[in-house]
Amino acid sequence: MTDISSRKADHIELALQSTHQAPQGSGFDRLRFEPIPLPQMALEDIDLSTSFLGTQVSAPFLIGAMTGGCDNGELINQHLAEAAEACNIPMALGSQRASLEEGMPQNVRRWAPNATVLANLGATQLQQHGLDLAQRAVDSVHANALVIHLNPLQELIQPNGDRDWNLVLEAIQDCAAKLSVPVIVKEVGSGIGPTSAKKLMDAGVKWIEVAGRGGTSWASIELARNGSAREREIAAPFIDWGMDTVELLPAVHSACPSMALIGSGGVRHGLDVARCIRLGAKMAALAQPFLAPALESTESVVEKIEVLQEQLRWAMFLTGSQNLSALGNAALQEKYLG
Ligand SMILES: Cc1cc2nc3c(=O)[nH]c(=O)nc-3n(C[C@H](O)[C@H](O)[C@H](O)COP(=O)(O)O)c2cc1C
Repeated sequence: MTDISSRKADHIELALQSTHQAPQGSGFDRLRFEPIPLPQMALEDIDLSTSFLGTQVSAPFLIGAMTGGCDNGELINQHLAEAAEACNIPMALGSQRASLEEGMPQNVRRWAPNATVLANLGATQLQQHGLDLAQRAVDSVHANALVIHLNPLQELIQPNGDRDWNLVLEAIQDCAAKLSVPVIVKEVGSGIGPTSAKKLMDAGVKWIEVAGRGGTSWASIELARNGSAREREIAAPFIDWGMDTVELLPAVHSACPSMALIGSGGVRHGLDVARCIRLGAKMAALAQPFLAPALESTESVVEKIEVLQEQLRWAMFLTGSQNLSALGNAALQEKYLG
């Protein structure tokens, strides 16, 4: 096993443990819809479908980026990709850095020839290897977009992580201007706030996945892997670093109204997906909730997607929302307005 593939195997094992979820929870429960006990529609008439990157998908959520490039990473990706194809739900790949560096085959299109597939690279790799690496990541899987992840805290805690972020924004700007597909910029669980969103907007980025605090805590995962007492002491106060997704979405939406948003970080069921849509997101993304089903089988991932779809349908029924644009304006409990 290489260093990268053993790190990724650790990540999968640790991400499955509830101790590495955000200690204070996601805060999504603070957002309450006004119950509408007169839905005035039939449940079966509710339309969950939406357009994402120019393609009609069956529901407004995607399988969030998770890792490949380790022994069982390939099987995880096969199960996720086959389910994405069967359910017409988009799928984001985990970082392709290791597999591109090691010349490993990129098999996702064998399992998901028609699904919307998002390529993935870390922002600091782009700083080092530029547009060429980005285009290779996209071309190798015929991706519909490139996801660039920002993970400065994770890099600080990770032994030998990247600490020079001087040219990251320029690299993102270059990709947004010259890549053959759209660029989506995401965090990994601490969130992208209005200040950075404005910079990304000025750099030409049209999509942000907020990936806020509330779900998988990468600080917690990397701390569990870091054996240095000194580094652990430095990192300890940052274990719960970041802002909640439920606060970031409205903040970024009002700072950058033209930016298309994906709500993620702590989204755990279809009611949370509905909350993201109500807060201005076009889509939501879930990563960790798909990990256990993906280790099991394609059928388990399909089952998970169907449960999420049904939960979203119930949320729409109970808020009197026949489609997603109605859900985006659904009534909230009064204290959340304004
Ligand atoms: C096992 C695992 C591996 C991940 N690997 C990546 C990755 O390679 N690239 C990336 O952008 N995000 C990666 N993430 C972060 C997720 O995409 C997501 O932003 C984060 O986990 C928060 O969402 P969640 O609370 O739904 O898990 C990974 C998450 C998990 C659980």
